[in-house]
Amino acid sequence: NIEIIRAEHMGFCFGVREAVDEVHRYVDMNRGQIYVLGMLVHNEFVIEKLLKKGVIFVSEEDVLNNNTPLKSGDIVIIRAHGTTQNVQKKLLEIGVKLIDMACIYVKSARDQVVIWEQRGYKSVFIGDKDHPEVKGITSYGIKPLIFGSLDELKQAELDINEKWVFLFQTTYNRFIFQEINDYIINRFINYKVVKTICGATHQRQSAIEKLAQEVDAVFIIGSEQSSNTKKLYQISKNLNEKSYLIENNDDIKKHMLDGVRKLGVSAGASTPEELIAIIENKIKELED
Ligand code: F3S
Repeated sequence: NIEIIRAEHMGFCFGVREAVDEVHRYVDMNRGQIYVLGMLVHNEFVIEKLLKKGVIFVSEEDVLNNNTPLKSGDIVIIRAHGTTQNVQKKLLEIGVKLIDMACIYVKSARDQVVIWEQRGYKSVFIGDKDHPEVKGITSYGIKPLIFGSLDELKQAELDINEKWVFLFQTTYNRFIFQEINDYIINRFINYKVVKTICGATHQRQSAIEKLAQEVDAVFIIGSEQSSNTKKLYQISKNLNEKSYLIENNDDIKKHMLDGVRKLGVSAGASTPEELIAIIENKIKELED
């Protein structure tokens, strides 16, 4: 029998849960058409459910290009990742009722960019420049430089005589954060490191670090598109060769469980409990 051991912290974070609950709450109130800006979470399972309930998703690009059915008075919900200042402005111009469900960690990172720039620091953001969260937060800065890795930061050879503030994507890998922090401390003179990695990410990454070393194989449940899920997978894979990213039942192959007695399970911040339960049931089925 395979023993399934769940990571101590996994699955929906409070930011995502609040945003998803809020959309359901608005739909259930029957207040007219509900629009959500962008993918609410990077998880098809969650999105499908909302589509069935009649929610319409509009992309940021379409908003900027006036390519949406939105009109004054419509309700638009902004997801936990937040959005850019331009998109918000555009939506307000249309006259929609905006419900900003940007997570408090995202809001706090936006505030920090502004505060430190007002103090005369130039901002540097470490994260994936194509990720909506990063685009959103950095849109609040004057002209933040964005680097995806320590190597990119090194190659930029930033002037050490300037004042720099360093901020991070909320879901950044906390181990790589340490390396970057060490580099900053050794190289710069006038700097401020703002650790904007969120508590939920920290807990989930620590929990998988511990669990991956105690089990024979690990399933990380979540979407390929979810940045925090992928980071959990990377951390796990570094410590346990038999780590797999599982998006749905079809990804589970029998060979993954060969010789496995203890199977660790974790899930990204955008993975709902229902999906975790479906995967766990499938594992039990395969065993039988
Ligand atoms: Fe917020 Fe962190 Fe979740 S930033 S949305 S609590 S992953």
